[in-house]
Amino acid sequence: METYQLPHSDLEISRLIFGCWAIVGGFNWGPQDERDSLAAIKTAFDQGITTFDTAEAYGAGASENLLARALGEKRKEIIIASKAGPADFEPENLRKACERGLKNLKTDYIDLYQLHWPNPEIPLADTLGALQELRDAGKIRAYGVSNFGNQSLDTCKESGFNISSNQMAYNLLFRAIEYSILPQCIADEVPILCYSPIMQGLLTGKFTSEMEVPDDRARTRHFTKERSQSRHQEDGCEALTFQTIAKIKELSKEAEVSMGNISLAWLLYQQGVAAAIVGGRNAAQVRKNAASAQVTLRPALINALDEATRPLKEALGPNADLWQTDSRVI
Ligand SMILES: NC(=O)c1ccc[n+]([C@@H]2O[C@H](COP(=O)([O-])OP(=O)(O)OC[C@H]3O[C@@H](n4cnc5c(N)ncnc54)[C@H](OP(=O)(O)O)[C@@H]3O)[C@@H](O)[C@H]2O)c1
Repeated sequence: METYQLPHSDLEISRLIFGCWAIVGGFNWGPQDERDSLAAIKTAFDQGITTFDTAEAYGAGASENLLARALGEKRKEIIIASKAGPADFEPENLRKACERGLKNLKTDYIDLYQLHWPNPEIPLADTLGALQELRDAGKIRAYGVSNFGNQSLDTCKESGFNISSNQMAYNLLFRAIEYSILPQCIADEVPILCYSPIMQGLLTGKFTSEMEVPDDRARTRHFTKERSQSRHQEDGCEALTFQTIAKIKELSKEAEVSMGNISLAWLLYQQGVAAAIVGGRNAAQVRKNAASAQVTLRPALINALDEATRPLKEALGPNADLWQTDSRVI
């Protein structure tokens, strides 16, 4: 497995990161068997994935806890990236959130501690200062951000504190960060960790029409505002989304690489991308996704994928919030 050296840190992360959200089931994901979750995490490690992304918000600590149970014995061999929620960005609350994370993770340090979403109510420089103090105290090894748009990235830069990464929604069906966030991250040398890299399963080709996508997963701006759990006010672009999926499917057939793996490999070719954080609900899915680390794409195929997905990129525009019209990515 290829690795990537995160700036302002001594962290060498695997370019495929295992995402520990869906393994708690519940909101967005439905029922989940705990044995599958533990097997998924262990399989990721066996396949050479050394970096694991989690958050207190995933099942109120349940995800962090599963990770500790599955790989507690391998603590020194893995990199744990966890997140603090925006309600905890006051310095004192951030310290408490970090302690809760350490307890859930049954460890005495978090490798990469990330701010989950911007919180314009709390001065960012104060929160970054608190992260630096946690680092100085050895509680965390490095810090990063997530869902940070241009304005928040500017503030990070002005504050003088050095962030090691920005975690953003990025995949072939959602290229919004390419408009202005990715260019800024490249210029500021803040590598991107891509979340939802297979668009929550859509890029495996397993849903052939919008009707097949369950409501809790059809919350994204690709789908109409009429979907029961939608939090946006848009008509969506369901037909275009599924036309785009069909085109990617065709290209993946020609290349004889699965759609999911072509999608993951495409991301890892993008300038400014350090890693793709991919979820998997059982060992079989994880094994399939890990195989993408072996995939190389010809430049002509990369260009064809760019072209095939451009109309959808244009239809969804530069709002990098997957779920809301009133963008929280600021
Ligand atoms: N920072 C943030 O705000 C943020 C937001 C979202 C996610 N994340 C992080 O990014 C990670 C990944 O994102 P994500 O979970 O939203 O989406 P994803 O990785 O694009 O999709 C994962 C889902 O796709 C399905 N799947 C995975 N592999 C498959 C395969 N080989 N064949 C068929 N289906 C497959 C599984 O769900 P089913 O089997 O149920 O279809 C799985 O849960 C999360 O775990 C989390 O760590 C961060």
